[in-house]
Amino acid sequence: MIKLPGLIDIHVHLRDPEQTYKEDFFTGTSAAVSGGFAYIFDMPNNKKPIFTLKALKEKINLVKKKAVCDIGFYFGSIGDNLDEFKKVKNLVFGLKLYLDQTTGNFLVDKKKLKNIFQTWNDSKPILLHAEGESVNQVLKIVEETGQRVHFCHVGLTDDLKKIISAKKKQLPVTVGVTPHYLFLTKNDVKNLGSFGLMKPPLGTRKDQNYLWKNLKYIDFVESDHAPHTIEEKKSATPPFGVPGLETTLSLLLTAVSEKKLTMKRLIELCYENPKKIFNIITDKNTYVEIDEREEYIIDNKKLFTKCGWSPFNGWKVKGRVKRVFIRGKKVYDNGRLLVKPGYGRFIS
Ligand code: DOR
Ligand code: ZN
Repeated sequence: MIKLPGLIDIHVHLRDPEQTYKEDFFTGTSAAVSGGFAYIFDMPNNKKPIFTLKALKEKINLVKKKAVCDIGFYFGSIGDNLDEFKKVKNLVFGLKLYLDQTTGNFLVDKKKLKNIFQTWNDSKPILLHAEGESVNQVLKIVEETGQRVHFCHVGLTDDLKKIISAKKKQLPVTVGVTPHYLFLTKNDVKNLGSFGLMKPPLGTRKDQNYLWKNLKYIDFVESDHAPHTIEEKKSATPPFGVPGLETTLSLLLTAVSEKKLTMKRLIELCYENPKKIFNIITDKNTYVEIDEREEYIIDNKKLFTKCGWSPFNGWKVKGRVKRVFIRGKKVYDNGRLLVKPGYGRFIS
């Protein structure tokens, strides 16, 4: 049995409020806890997006009623709410901007990008969904403004190359990969169909190898937990995204057992780097007990997420979360959740 700190996932979509038929703060935080995550950070692309202090406060109140682990938030913008920034800054961990198409369609007005950066102007990062040419545009503005940015879910060689060279130039940039880019490729879409569709899309085997080879430049593993119902995924216009909170740690522990990753690096990617870069106050009595030798099969039927599926269904993994403690209280024990909605806290 080994003990890890309660892990941090800087990138989830819990769909509460508005789309609680996909996930809500109770089911989503339950999924987090069962997957070894004690602190998670929720994105602003709700159906009614988090572009105002009022919308943000609504989310904060729901956490206090429903969450079982701690949650923080990001604010969002398409470029027309700059006067809200100063009101929300101390309540969020950063500002998220979508430069390319994904769930919600909240594309930022690129003409306003520099102005958004100058108005945010904070040590808290601007997080970006940026692919291809958008990565260049962002890097140019980072050079001009010095604003710290985080590139979310990078999976393609070309995008990562640009970010690595920006890091080498000492620009204030960080980068995250998702478990699906580390463990799946385009080829898996043949079997997964629309259950393997997300934005940005899966890369080739070559892209995947490039990620593993350059893991030393990656700051975080972020799940991009993006639950959609099975019916929606089977529909003619399936939404983008896959759930990940419950599978990330076991997949990474399996990689540790296969010597593709060290345990030290796993803890950096899922705890130490997020803690340091996002200034997260953690509790020493918040920790996870893992059986690193236990093997099991990921099973859609055993998941806590309301969407009830995983692109890794049927995968054999090695390394399992046995117990989770949050602020000294045992909240999860061998598949059972032991805590009531509301134990989790809003963090800022
Ligand atoms: O596949 C994705 N799904 N990518 C994103 O950037 C958003 C997410 C969602 O909200 O479903
Ligand atoms: Zn996302």
